[in-house]
Amino acid sequence: METERLRLGRFTAEDVDLLVELDSDPEVMRFLTGQPTSRAEIEGVVLPEILAVYAEHPELGTFKAEDETGFVGWFGMQPTKDPATVDLGYRLKRTAWGNGYATEGTVALIEEAFTELGMEWVVADTMAVNHRSRAVMRRSGLRFARLYHEYFEDPLPGTEFGEVEYALDRQTWEAGRRA
Ligand SMILES: CC(C)(COP(=O)(O)OP(=O)(O)OC[C@H]1O[C@@H](n2cnc3c(N)ncnc32)[C@H](O)[C@@H]1OP(=O)(O)O)[C@@H](O)C(=O)NCCC(=O)NCCS
Repeated sequence: METERLRLGRFTAEDVDLLVELDSDPEVMRFLTGQPTSRAEIEGVVLPEILAVYAEHPELGTFKAEDETGFVGWFGMQPTKDPATVDLGYRLKRTAWGNGYATEGTVALIEEAFTELGMEWVVADTMAVNHRSRAVMRRSGLRFARLYHEYFEDPLPGTEFGEVEYALDRQTWEAGRRA
């Protein structure tokens, strides 16, 4: 898939280094695990799981994003318990922040979900304190749906403010396009 400035494609088994580089920035991981992901975990867990989703859901999964300089991060469109709902996510290298890339990729995936894939809902979740991520959701047309609390053994700073879910249904998306 292509947007104005990004090319979205699949990861392959050769892409360990790209994911290690992305997850090695503590600022990128701040609201996710709070620490870099080890190479062993990328090789043994993260990348195999990404490849497994492609095998099971050929139109979904984690998409490698590149601009004209190369790898900038990824966008996720994951299956949920409801076959008519997908869950969106994104993770960009810090050098790629501040360009509107996250919003551009998310807008494109929402369109794909409601047109090609025939979805009824797209949802996205983040920590309430992850304001950059919430701004991407808002700019992409998702609406705040709920605040909820989850129990974590080893909570990140800010967990006490909860998690937020944003959502968009097909009809609202279509109405927004006509407006
Ligand atoms: C969340 C994340 C993807 C947001 O990235 P981002 O670059 O801030 O988001 P956008 O792509 O929407 O870009 C918006 C910024 O680009 C600027 N911008 C520049 N050119 C632009 C353009 N052509 N179009 C739109 N925005 C543009 C906007 O003004 C805005 O700037 P600001 O941050 O100063 O307000 C990024 O912070 C990230 O990867 N974080 C780590 C992973 C993470 O937390 N993921 C979410 C977990 S659920």
